[in-house]
Amino acid sequence: MTLVKKLADIKVLPVLVIEDDGLAVDLCRALHNGGIKAVEITLRTPAAAAAIARVKQALPELSVSAGTVLNGDHALLAADAGVDFLVSPGIVESLVKKAEALSLPLLPGVATASEVMRGTEMGLNCFKLFPAVAVGGMDLLKSLASPLPNVSFCPTGGLSLDNFTDFLALPNVVCVGGSWMANSSVIADRDWQRIEDIARDTVARVVQ
Ligand code: 3PG
Repeated sequence: MTLVKKLADIKVLPVLVIEDDGLAVDLCRALHNGGIKAVEITLRTPAAAAAIARVKQALPELSVSAGTVLNGDHALLAADAGVDFLVSPGIVESLVKKAEALSLPLLPGVATASEVMRGTEMGLNCFKLFPAVAVGGMDLLKSLASPLPNVSFCPTGGLSLDNFTDFLALPNVVCVGGSWMANSSVIADRDWQRIEDIARDTVARVVQ
């Protein structure tokens, strides 16, 4: 399955910062129970790789991506942990090549038309608009649609329960990402029921 199709099925990608890998399975189970199909576990903490491995083992039906993949070493770490795809805040050729060598789909971050063009030149057609709201949000996505057809986006950064469906309604948006379903403080509180409830509310708002 292409990354675009996979993301179009996923639709909503919770971005997770996990400090304690011992909490990762409970956290991801709560999201999954709420109807979430995939998570992005960011490589921003020492616990991230262990968290990915634990979730992949305990919840094989959940798609797990590594986020904040900044270089080839990160890509390798994520591959060894068993991720399904890679997410990066930006786009650099060395990372695109490394992902290709590892046979892992890469969702690289872009914020401008030039970065999209750099990506399409490297054979990619799906990008994370990041940080989505700060770089222009819906207006930017609408403006990019006509000059850059056949390109799909997963806007992430600044989205919330209240506005994510507006983004998903845009023709060039296949998926959205964000931390609103499980931010660091709710994770620290281990409030799995609250996380499941927010996930369920989120999924219920998605028009299939
Ligand atoms: C991130 O990289 O942290 C994501 O873009 C999440 O952003 P958000 O917290 O604004 O949803």
